Amino acid sequence: MLKTLAKCIREYKLASILSPLFVILEVVLECMIPFVIIYLGNAIQDGLNLWGTGGTLGIGQYAIILLAMSFLSLACGALAGVFCAKASTGFAKNLRKDMYYKIQDFSFENIDKFSTSSLVTRMTTDVNNVQFSYMMIVRMAFRCPVMLIFSVVMAFVIGGSLAWIFIVVIPPLTFVLLFIMRKAMPMFRRVFKKYDALNESIQENVKGIRVVKSYVREDYEKKKFNTASENLCADFTRAERLLAWNNPIMNFFFYGVLSSALFIGCYLGIKTGTDITWEISQIIVYGMQVLMSLMMLSMVFVMITMSMESARRICEVLTEESTLHNPENPVYDVADGSVDFDGVSFKYSANAEKNVLEDIDLHIRSGETIGIIGGTGSSKTSLVNLISRLYDVSEGSVRVGGKDVREYDLSTLRNQVAVVLQKNVLFSGTIKENLRWGNKDATDEELIDACKLAQADEFVSSFPKGYDTYIEQGGTNVSGGQKQRLCIARALLKKPKILILDDSTSAVDTKTDALIRKGLRDYIPATTKIIIAQRISSVEDADRIIVMESGKINGIGTHKELLKSNTIYAEVYNSQNKGGKNDEE
Ligand SMILES: Nc1ncnc2c1ncn2[C@@H]1O[C@H](COP(=O)(O)OP(=O)(O)O)[C@@H](O)[C@H]1O
Ligand SMILES: [Mg+2]
Repeated sequence: MLKTLAKCIREYKLASILSPLFVILEVVLECMIPFVIIYLGNAIQDGLNLWGTGGTLGIGQYAIILLAMSFLSLACGALAGVFCAKASTGFAKNLRKDMYYKIQDFSFENIDKFSTSSLVTRMTTDVNNVQFSYMMIVRMAFRCPVMLIFSVVMAFVIGGSLAWIFIVVIPPLTFVLLFIMRKAMPMFRRVFKKYDALNESIQENVKGIRVVKSYVREDYEKKKFNTASENLCADFTRAERLLAWNNPIMNFFFYGVLSSALFIGCYLGIKTGTDITWEISQIIVYGMQVLMSLMMLSMVFVMITMSMESARRICEVLTEESTLHNPENPVYDVADGSVDFDGVSFKYSANAEKNVLEDIDLHIRSGETIGIIGGTGSSKTSLVNLISRLYDVSEGSVRVGGKDVREYDLSTLRNQVAVVLQKNVLFSGTIKENLRWGNKDATDEELIDACKLAQADEFVSSFPKGYDTYIEQGGTNVSGGQKQRLCIARALLKKPKILILDDSTSAVDTKTDALIRKGLRDYIPATTKIIIAQRISSVEDADRIIVMESGKINGIGTHKELLKSNTIYAEVYNSQNKGGKNDEE
């Protein structure tokens, strides 16, 4: 895991090394300063010679050295801070970038595995956690141990035998701090898991807020949120309550050291008749530093624990292998719009029990218009997703233009096989920008032609800003049917050899639907058209209609043939024709 993360440091390696170096310098200086003060004190005691003579230094020199050292220490501290900020924010930037690039390469299967909201949490909250703990590592992880060791050594140099107090105190203190940490670690891990759950539930709610409102589920959602939120709060409090012990324990040990230093010092002083006030005061100064660094060290550990879970989740994304690969010697030319399924079986994940598609043999000629009818869950979408290789077959093969789809360069294939997905989306931007997803070089005339074909031109022109109308995020400012027509126009601009409409006219009235189909027939006769629909009227004029039922082809034929021979088709037809043409939605 660390290796994967370390790869993202890249151009910030230098900053990541310089920062702790400056930290160490700063600490060394900080620890030396009391030492100089002692000499300064001695010099003052020795009498008021400002500039030392012969071998000894005077007050003035010591004062200058002291000033220089404090200034240097300040400079080192500042530089360490600058490099640290650079290293940690840069590291986070690289993490985010690597994840984003990785996700762009993900296949639908990979995305199914993570879920969209979890990917968002991983790229935001998790990266923030790791960034913060990286900052702590770069600054504190070096500062504390160096400070600790240096302070103890200096305490021995100055305080002499009194410094033994530290050797006695540090082990039990370390033990207590470690104990608290060990208890806190699993608590924090649990807290972060709950945090994720809360995030995901909020995202789900906000995304679906319209549905929540229309089903008057606000109260239920509020309750759900409160439970999750209070749960999290309770767990957090428990973990923090434990950590809160750190401070009083440190204080206890600090005053313990203080009073024993005083006690032992006085005892020794009285016994030997020497004045050791100075040593005692120094022990107290270093004692502060020792205990502080121990406490900070324990905080660093807690921070690292808290971010471990985040780091793991980031690595999961970074090390995920896309399940779809471009072949070694890809084919860049799609000969024609023919589609062949040979003995195809398919399931969404290797460990799924049942096949979603079973033994499909299907041959579509180039230029043919194919309708697909079937209940929800009958695997219509799954069938067509195999043609543009959104998923790979589990058994058998799918050929487009006579070649296995796995032999094509992926972008070539997807440009020639245009799919208007069932869950189609527009992106924030103008209508023009959205349409140019289909073909970035399309002229304005081409855009308008495509929209005319898709019966979108009329309503787009009626907007005050026409084709420059801004589409809000998620396309909320156009109606369902308008969105569908724009998505069809976008696909048409690709000038594909195969056009797949997955329930793409469900929100369009029957008359417009018929006009769209007529347009497709007249203007792109050579393109193979595969139309999935709920309404018989949307497919009845197709060359052939496929009836899907539980992942299998139940029947193929023209409208007339199927009416006679296929009971499912006849049933659907009759139900939709009762009381005239039936418009869904
Ligand atoms: N991304 C997916 N992961 C796992 N199972 C899926 C996925 N998409 C669809 N399915 C399952 O595959 C079956 C067929 O779904 P689908 O092809 O969408 O049917 P249709 O388009 O005919 O409504 C359903 O049982 C559905 O639950
Ligand atoms: Mg579907």
